[in-house]
Amino acid sequence: MESSICYLNGNYQALADTRVSVLDRGFIFGDAIYEVVPVFNGKPFRLPHHLDRLRASLAAALMDDPLSRSEWIELSDRLVAENGAGDQTLYIQVTRGVAPRDHVLASPVAQTVFAMSSPLQVPRDVSPIDAVTVEDQRWQRCDIKTTSLLPNVIARAQAAQRGAQEAILIRDGYVTEGAASNIFVVSGGRIKTPPLSPLILPGITRDLLVELDPRVAEEPVSVQELRNADEVWVTSSGRELVPVTRLDGDVVGNGTVGPVFLDTRAKYQAYKATR
Ligand code: PDD
Repeated sequence: MESSICYLNGNYQALADTRVSVLDRGFIFGDAIYEVVPVFNGKPFRLPHHLDRLRASLAAALMDDPLSRSEWIELSDRLVAENGAGDQTLYIQVTRGVAPRDHVLASPVAQTVFAMSSPLQVPRDVSPIDAVTVEDQRWQRCDIKTTSLLPNVIARAQAAQRGAQEAILIRDGYVTEGAASNIFVVSGGRIKTPPLSPLILPGITRDLLVELDPRVAEEPVSVQELRNADEVWVTSSGRELVPVTRLDGDVVGNGTVGPVFLDTRAKYQAYKATR
């Protein structure tokens, strides 16, 4: 594979030749924050929202924001251009830096700032997926977009073992989100998505759908409602809106891609076309 260009601490260089120290706290502790930004036609989509969330995650993790807003925009634009524009997935990661291993950072060090980009295959057609429910084993601050993703990784592995493409996480009988997505359910024409709280990531795609479609109610979704739903979909920056037509081996609704999904997806596509 042709190596793409990445960014590390001020330098633009070949990803294949890029190294960070094994003492980087991102490696040792998962002490890092990240963002994933979709890029359509060479333009980062909803970049201000991603940069706001990055800043909020850094603040919650007691880390400084290493770059100014204009520096982040410049970095994103340059990296996208270096990689040939088009549709891409832009990945940004900030770690607390490189230091001798100790939970507390004894003296300040420079943070590690890394960004890379990979080609994004925007699905032309709607491809439904299978999902399984998995207990949400994460901590109480799932609103922080940290690279400490072990529970999410385990949930996705469990889903894969059961032949499914996403795990829907359940905490105390209620749906929180997917292992790497937010969840929407439709019952009797009513669209619901779990409300924002420290227990879910404030997804940029989720928030856009809430903004675009006044029918979406931000309300708790019980496991029963999930199981009885006419439609279930997941959303994320990379995969946009994806219908779930099989849940824990049972068909969702009538097992086909639902009309409310198609309608909401059309609204999303129309918005995207204006950007
Ligand atoms: N993940 N919830 C979780 C736990 C996620 O990891 C993601 C996205 C989302 C959706 O957020 P957004 O719409 O802002 O992408 C919700 C990214 C894509 C990832 O980790 O690769």
